[in-house]
Amino acid sequence: MCGIVGYIGNKNCVPIILEGLKRLEYRGYDSAGIATINSVSTDVVKCEGKVSALEAMLNLNKLDAPLGIGHTRWATHGAPNEINAHPHFNENKDLFMIHNGIIENYQVLKTKLKKQGYNFASETDTEVLVLLIDSFMKKNLSLFDSVRYALNEVEGAYGIAVISKKEPDKIIAARKGSPLVIGIGENENFISSDVSALIQHTKRVVYLDDNEICELTKDNFFVKNISDESIKKEIENVTLELDELSKGGYPHFMLKEIMEQPDSITNAMRGRLLFKEGSTKLGGLQGYEDRLANSKRIIISACGTSWHAALVGEYMIEQFAQIPVEVEYASEFRYRSPIIYSDDTILFISQSGETADTLAAMKEAKRKGALVLGICNVVGSSIARESEAGVYIHAGPEIGVASTKAFTSQLMVLAQITLLIARKKSMSFVDGKKVLTELEALPGKIKKILEMNSEIEKIAEHFVDAKNFLYLGRGYNFPVALEGALKLKEISYIHAEGYPAAEMKHGPIALIDENMPAVFIAPHDSIYDKVISNIQEVRARKGRIIAIATENDYDIDGLVDYCIKIPHTLEILMPILTVIPLQLLAYHIAVKKGLNVDQPRNLAKSVTVE
Ligand code: G6P
Repeated sequence: MCGIVGYIGNKNCVPIILEGLKRLEYRGYDSAGIATINSVSTDVVKCEGKVSALEAMLNLNKLDAPLGIGHTRWATHGAPNEINAHPHFNENKDLFMIHNGIIENYQVLKTKLKKQGYNFASETDTEVLVLLIDSFMKKNLSLFDSVRYALNEVEGAYGIAVISKKEPDKIIAARKGSPLVIGIGENENFISSDVSALIQHTKRVVYLDDNEICELTKDNFFVKNISDESIKKEIENVTLELDELSKGGYPHFMLKEIMEQPDSITNAMRGRLLFKEGSTKLGGLQGYEDRLANSKRIIISACGTSWHAALVGEYMIEQFAQIPVEVEYASEFRYRSPIIYSDDTILFISQSGETADTLAAMKEAKRKGALVLGICNVVGSSIARESEAGVYIHAGPEIGVASTKAFTSQLMVLAQITLLIARKKSMSFVDGKKVLTELEALPGKIKKILEMNSEIEKIAEHFVDAKNFLYLGRGYNFPVALEGALKLKEISYIHAEGYPAAEMKHGPIALIDENMPAVFIAPHDSIYDKVISNIQEVRARKGRIIAIATENDYDIDGLVDYCIKIPHTLEILMPILTVIPLQLLAYHIAVKKGLNVDQPRNLAKSVTVE
């Protein structure tokens, strides 16, 4: 949600901020803005739409300033228009702020400020906070203290950056619940909601933690907590490279990320497979293996695609590690007074490591004393840092809003965790080795599926005008059906539902006629015959069927309209393969509809508000 970039130094901040905002646009892209301060003027330019629209306006304005903050927005309070776009400012236009998050008590604060004579231009919660800071500055407090005093009155989540004409040599930044990272340069410093906006300029970063406020000048910074106590921060080095953030010749990040999967899943297992022991070694779980294996119950919690990965994890762990597993939406978990025992393990899965609901659920779980583990992609993210121990999936940056390679890498890590526990329990060495051998073979098999890209594109042509879609699968492939439907919904805006194939006859079957496409995930596994019966039920009602089946399955050909044949693997690993044609199908349908697959409407990559 919302991208934040700030610069202070000797250069013109405008191109630096624009470049950073473009890298952060996947976080939100409904409006954008920039505020700058130089020795003669303060300027603010905002617009509805993408950063490119802002750039066009700035070309006309020709701003040049050594201090500035910029924002790309995903609207929460107030429509995405110019007035509601950030930065927000005070009446004198000498105090500017950008914000990611939600100020929950903004109505109370607004009423109070109105009584003090403040007028509001926008419908946003952010404007309330900037005017609250202004009210403290009017009492002759410093910018730092004004921000601190104001934040003491705020309930909710924020990552903010504030600049003022009165103190034009600094940026004040603060965080609670929404990520912020400082970039340390030479005679210049940066602030951003994400390291990807910084690495072009510096690899040296400082992550702010909740309730911390930072004062950043061009050659220094200090951090205090909200109670005014100094905090010593470590400077960390990021390893992310710039070319990992480019499209690499593909028309969209989403396609690039789908195509990267042979490599991304290789990275998820690098150095982790122990053939001699028929098991796995996960560095991030060292010292926690026995506690994990002895858990009486494992709860897996996540949102969106990561939640679908969690569902596959449930099937894996229950079948092989024989520990009862529950899967919970993080948004439900955090508010439902869950009963948690000290011998429970709670595993949180998040690509971004910043999803507000997942982070809050994690904090709740920690409070209740269970072992709290994380599976994340973004190194140094909030969820990664909050968890007691955990595993990185190492998928590399995922920029396309619809998650693809992170999903398969999450499944790789869940399979490795399953193996780790299962081998401590009843799984034999021979069976463990079988899983390892199949894990190693997956990248090659994924390559074979990706070679079918143009075949899948041709199938997509037939479904561009579909209004609805059903995705059906059973067992390990039921969560894949949910994920396939989610991919299509997210980027093509076609209504799609995922269902357990057998459950279809309890309702969705009523929808089936010659216009309803049904995608069956039907690999040759232990419930293949049952899925074939479900295919027959749809066929009998003239539904149009696309099947994902395994190679050498010729029986299915006569039953379906289109069939995508993929290599075979163990049932536990099949979702890593079956999901790939579904990612490509959704991608091609959306592209053929002329939609922006990387930045679908209303969505954002990293949902840092509840
Ligand atoms: C957003 C994204 C989804 C993602 C979900 C959870 O809704 O658009 O692609 O699956 O958040 O994100 P996380 O980063 O926690 O996995």
